[in-house]
Amino acid sequence: MQTVSTIAELRARLNAERASGKRIALVPTMGNLHRGHLRLVESAVANADFVVASIFVNPLQFGPNEDLERYPRTLAEDQAQLEAFGCNLLFAPTEAEVYPKGRGGQTFVEVPGISDLYCGASRPGHFRGVTTIVNKLFNLIQPDVAVFGCKDYQQLHVIRRMVEDLSMPVELIGVGTERAENGLALSSRNGYLTEEELSVAPALYATLCDLRSALIAGERDHDTLIEHAQNHLERAGFLRDYIHILRRSDMLTADTRDTQLVIIAAAYLGAARLIDNIEVDL
Ligand code: PAF
Repeated sequence: MQTVSTIAELRARLNAERASGKRIALVPTMGNLHRGHLRLVESAVANADFVVASIFVNPLQFGPNEDLERYPRTLAEDQAQLEAFGCNLLFAPTEAEVYPKGRGGQTFVEVPGISDLYCGASRPGHFRGVTTIVNKLFNLIQPDVAVFGCKDYQQLHVIRRMVEDLSMPVELIGVGTERAENGLALSSRNGYLTEEELSVAPALYATLCDLRSALIAGERDHDTLIEHAQNHLERAGFLRDYIHILRRSDMLTADTRDTQLVIIAAAYLGAARLIDNIEVDL
C-alpha cells in the first residue's frame, strides 16, 4: 500500500489506475482505525478493484470547544491495518493541503434542514464540515463507490441527500455498526472513557434495544418512551443529549402509523459524547 499526502500524487496514481479500467472505492476516515473501519475496507475490497482510504481529521466538522486537538492520531498503526486488509492507496494529507485558504476562506457544501437537526443541533456546522470534506474527497478521488459506517446514521443520510441532490456519480454503501461483545458501538471516542465509564457505556445500546422491544410490543406513546429511556440513561451516569424515534425514509419524527423506524441517540459520558442507533420494523 502506497501512502500519499499531496493532491498531485493522489491524482497521478489514480489516473493510472482509472486508465486501466479499475473500479475505485473510497473509504473516508479520520484515522485511529478500529474493527468498524476495517469492515468498511472489507466492503470496499469486495465492491471494487482498487481501494483508496483517506485519513484526515477534518477541522471544519469540529466545533470550537470540541475534541479536534485531542482526537487520536495513530498513522503508523492505521497504515499497517489498512495494508493488512487489502487497501491499495492511503491519502493522508495535511490541513494546508486540503484547505490552502484556511478554515474559513473556502466554499462550503451544505444539505439544508436535516443538517441542523439532532447531531446538527448539538454540533452547529458539523454536517456542513462533513459534506464539504466528503464532496472534496469525491472530487479528488472520483470513486465509483464510497463506503461509510451506519453508526453515523444521520451522517450517511445527509451524504445520501448530497449525492442525490447534486447528481454525484458515486454509489454509496452503508456498513452495519461493529460492536463489542457487550453491545457498545465501536468508536474512536470510546478511547476517552475511563475503565468505569467503559462499564457504563453499553447501557446506551441496551436502552435502544429496550425501546425497540417496547415499540414491537405495541407501545405507541413515543414521548413517554423517550422520557423513560432518558431517565434510565441518566441514572446509569449519562448526561442527556437526545433520543428520537424517526421515520427511516426522511429521518423526521415518526408518527404512530409509520412502520420503518430508526431510533437515534446521543449522550455524554465523562469526556465522550457517544452516539448510536437501531432500526425498528413494526
Ligand atoms: O465519519 C467520519 O469519520 C468523518 O465524518 C468523515 C466521513 C471521514 C468525514 O471527515
